[in-house]
Amino acid sequence: MENFGIAHALLQLLLLHLVGSGRGHLLTGQPAIDLRIQAREQLISQSNDSAYVQRLMRLSKSAEMRSYMQQDADACENFYDYSCGNWPQINPANDAYPRETNFVQLLLKAYSHKQQRLMEQPANVETDEVAVLRLKEFYASCLLFRQVPEDLYRRQLQEIVADFGRMPVLSLPGQEWPAEEFDWLDTVARIKRQYGFDILLLFQQSADRIYVGQPKQILPEANRKAVAEDIANHLERHLGVDPKVAVTTAREITEFEQKIAAIMVDRRVGVMSKLYTPSDADYVDVSKLTQFVETVLDRELLANESLYQHVPDYLMKIDELVTETPPHVLANYVFNELLKHFYYERAESVVEQCVSRVRDLFGELLDHMLFEQYEDEGTLKDIYVVWQQLQRSFRGVLQNSSANWLVPETREQLLEQLNTTSLVINGYAEVNFTQRYEELHLKPRDYLHNLRTILNHQSLRVKVKTQTSVTYDPVGKRVLLPVALLQPNFLWSRYYPKAVRYGSLGTLLAQQLAHSLEDASKWDAKSFAEYSKRKSCFKEQYGRLRLNGHYLPESDLQAENIADNLAIQVAYHAYRRLLAELDPSFLGSESLPQLNLGSRRLFFLSFAQLWCNDANEQFRDKQSLFLGTPNALRVLGALSNFRAFGRDFNCGTASRMTSPQKCQLFAVNLD
Ligand SMILES: *[C@@H]1O[C@H](CO)[C@@H](O)[C@H](O)[C@H]1NC(C)=O
Ligand SMILES: *[C@@H]1O[C@H](CO)[C@@H](O)[C@H](O)[C@H]1NC(C)=O
Ligand SMILES: *[C@@H]1O[C@H](CO)[C@@H](O)[C@H](O)[C@H]1NC(C)=O
Ligand SMILES: *[C@@H]1O[C@H](CO)[C@@H](O)[C@H](O)[C@H]1NC(C)=O
Ligand SMILES: *[C@@H]1O[C@H](CO)[C@@H](O)[C@H](O)[C@H]1NC(C)=O
Repeated sequence: MENFGIAHALLQLLLLHLVGSGRGHLLTGQPAIDLRIQAREQLISQSNDSAYVQRLMRLSKSAEMRSYMQQDADACENFYDYSCGNWPQINPANDAYPRETNFVQLLLKAYSHKQQRLMEQPANVETDEVAVLRLKEFYASCLLFRQVPEDLYRRQLQEIVADFGRMPVLSLPGQEWPAEEFDWLDTVARIKRQYGFDILLLFQQSADRIYVGQPKQILPEANRKAVAEDIANHLERHLGVDPKVAVTTAREITEFEQKIAAIMVDRRVGVMSKLYTPSDADYVDVSKLTQFVETVLDRELLANESLYQHVPDYLMKIDELVTETPPHVLANYVFNELLKHFYYERAESVVEQCVSRVRDLFGELLDHMLFEQYEDEGTLKDIYVVWQQLQRSFRGVLQNSSANWLVPETREQLLEQLNTTSLVINGYAEVNFTQRYEELHLKPRDYLHNLRTILNHQSLRVKVKTQTSVTYDPVGKRVLLPVALLQPNFLWSRYYPKAVRYGSLGTLLAQQLAHSLEDASKWDAKSFAEYSKRKSCFKEQYGRLRLNGHYLPESDLQAENIADNLAIQVAYHAYRRLLAELDPSFLGSESLPQLNLGSRRLFFLSFAQLWCNDANEQFRDKQSLFLGTPNALRVLGALSNFRAFGRDFNCGTASRMTSPQKCQLFAVNLD
């Protein structure tokens, strides 16, 4: 009976894959379908641990992998086309949205869906932790808010403004807006203290440093008209502003915002920031800056707290810009920036809106909740075993004679760095969420009240952006694996061959290990000179790659390409070693049904399919100019440098995938 249910579910699943590849609507036209596949796989995989389930899971993985492949393409001519040639039919990019489709999106979509399911589970006062109860209370109040009468909602928005002053566009007809009452610096400081928004100025505190300066970059907007229409529309609908006045105001706001965008740069907080010294007083008014900070903190600065200017140029220019802007424009801008966080769309998809609110406000908690679901001992052990094998192989690479060009001290330094780097699954296990949320008091039906309370509660906390890819954190010397990548049955499953795990998850982790070693600035001069020579090999080689007939721009930024090359080789080596150490009878399970590939070929296919993507033309051009090496060339570049690939696929010496000149940082040959 049980088996029948599973088989039925699987049959549907396979059919969905087939339908998907034939019609090409999986991602865009019918977004629910791939989620259903995931949900079913989940169901199947949790039902029983028997060989039967394993066979079904493998069939379904095989169906997925085959559906992306273009099997009549020549693996030795273009391995990307061979692995991903069918992807654009299944997950096509569009003119508007999505402009690009890729594998990570599939993962995140499934993850989002799981987050939503968590929110939707009814609150249980007995079993839910305090933090989880708060999250569910907030979500419920958001859904219920659609019943609140329009005029009450509007009054609440006006109250939010009134806490900080008067918004010119809300003045009644014939009423004069008192410009002299408006002090922009004081207003944005109080808004920051209350809700944590950085309007016109950034405030960020970490330990004894206080950064003041440019907020998150606003990008110049090509289609200003659409932005202005959007703002006008909001002013009219949410605040009842007269349509004509709304249009004029929105235009003024948009124009001002474009002037701000023009003086902003793309820079992370902490990078190239400058300690404020009295000699800066010439161009930045210290008393104003100090007053801003003290208003935000609601106390005086301590002797051991120092002010750092984040983008000093911005501080100078924003002062000029504000001075030459009419006060009513400035004030409308500031209050509009405040209000846009509180708008509630009752007509449109309320569920979508509320899910996204919860995700923004409780991102870390949601990651934590999902982490707890996946955190069974088996899963974690599996992942850490991969990690240890990768570290071991990497160590072998650095100790090998092919790395003899490194001066011994530098080599020792790299080995030590390798040993101290740890893997952390980013599930916020160290945060005490009970402590964080127990003092938060929410009301069952009052969404806006709750939103204000939560924002206030975390106003000065540094926002953590939800992590969506594996990253290296140089400060903590950690490789961070986001919980989204831990979802079973994508990159990882105990039912799949280990080739899949090492080819996908393994290469992603190895890539970040490679990044952990790339800071060559501390190396000795001799090793550094050799490193630069090897780097220029990559620079020339990647500069000769072409996508759709266009050459890649030659770039000095080769770190990502070098990491790709190291990653595939280290992960392959770790996988080979695993095979060698395992019982030979185990080899039979290192393949997938209906996919006629041996273990090593399956490894390479799993790697390549991580990078399957489709992008519309504009995005494609932008991608190769600004976003580094396009996915297809990442696959081709890294594999054509790797002898083992050519050998495993029996590629002739003249084939495109076996470039005669191989660029290498460390290893020449890993088997
Ligand atoms: C799984 O299925 C096998 C064979 O059908 C059965 O013996 C076993 O008890 C089941 N295990 C669980 C956990 O249901
Ligand atoms: C700064 O000094 C105060 C006491 O004057 C102390 O409580 C605080 O911990 C110090 N902060 C740092 C970051 O050293
Ligand atoms: C170094 O590489 C060679 C092949 O290039 C291999 O035979 C040897 O085992 C490697 N040594 C280590 C320590 O990994
Ligand atoms: C790194 O760790 C390995 C295994 O734990 C050990 O054998 C090696 O000596 C360590 N190397 C360094 C440089 O600490
Ligand atoms: C978390 O904080 C609460 C109180 O805020 C405390 O009772 C609890 O012991 C803490 N948990 C841990 C694991 O430290």
